Amino acid sequence: MKRFRGQTVVVTGASSGIGRAVALALQEEEASLILIGRDENRLSEVAAACRPDTSVVSCKLDLARSFEELPPSLRDRGVDILVHCAGRLVIDEMISARLDDFDLQMGVNVRGPWMLSRLLLPQLIEARGQIVFVNSSIAQHSARAGHGAYAASKVALRAIADSLREEVNALGVRVTSVYPGRTATSMQENLHAQEGRDYRPERLLQPEDLASIILHVLTLPETAEVRDVSVRPFMKT
Ligand SMILES: NC(=O)c1ccc[n+]([C@@H]2O[C@H](COP(=O)([O-])OP(=O)(O)OC[C@H]3O[C@@H](n4cnc5c(N)ncnc54)[C@H](OP(=O)(O)O)[C@@H]3O)[C@@H](O)[C@H]2O)c1
Repeated sequence: MKRFRGQTVVVTGASSGIGRAVALALQEEEASLILIGRDENRLSEVAAACRPDTSVVSCKLDLARSFEELPPSLRDRGVDILVHCAGRLVIDEMISARLDDFDLQMGVNVRGPWMLSRLLLPQLIEARGQIVFVNSSIAQHSARAGHGAYAASKVALRAIADSLREEVNALGVRVTSVYPGRTATSMQENLHAQEGRDYRPERLLQPEDLASIILHVLTLPETAEVRDVSVRPFMKT
């Protein structure tokens, strides 16, 4: 039995990294997908990698921009699950950081997920659905030099998830935050380059590891809610 047959799942950040892996794992389990990102070519590549009988809709949406209503492709879709994977990391110390980059990270990492969750809540409540926020393990525990805006955005995202859970549990909606450590994606490859470190993706978490955990959380019996999952690479670099 395919675990997501008959369920419609919105995945943000579906064009790359963890979001792409989540989308591909979900289609193996016969979910209907709505893929969100800005890069239409990469969204099309993900859609093309899905089984031919998968229902896939690509939705171009810039989460950093102000939006106050759902794009047409997200309206009245009967969404059961929303998985927030989109994220941006810009490293710069406060003295030289650009306000635009601060706003960008707050937009993609906080305001966008807040607004999209809010706009999809009626559908998610109707479905007694689930919401997953991909957060960051390191950002929660240590705001390193140059990571202030990113870490602040991820701490804010945690607060939004925790508060939303208190609001919607009684309506049948489960809310989970997933806190990955270093994961082998383009974001991490760029970070390694900026840190001047050797990039050895085989020693990091794999996007498929996170996808596997997220699918497991989403398929637990309705008597259980996983609130927080922290996942770190097993190998120490
Ligand atoms: N990789 C790690 O080590 C790591 C560790 C901890 C937490 N995380 C978190 O995991 C999540 C996924 O990151 P990743 O590692 O998979 O990074 P990634 O490969 O760079 O993917 C980031 C995704 O975010 C989307 N995105 C970026 N800006 C956007 C915008 N303005 N509007 C809409 N979508 C946007 C990108 O799509 P488009 O370019 O098509 O817009 C892309 O699909 C992020 O929230 C990140 O903070 C990652």
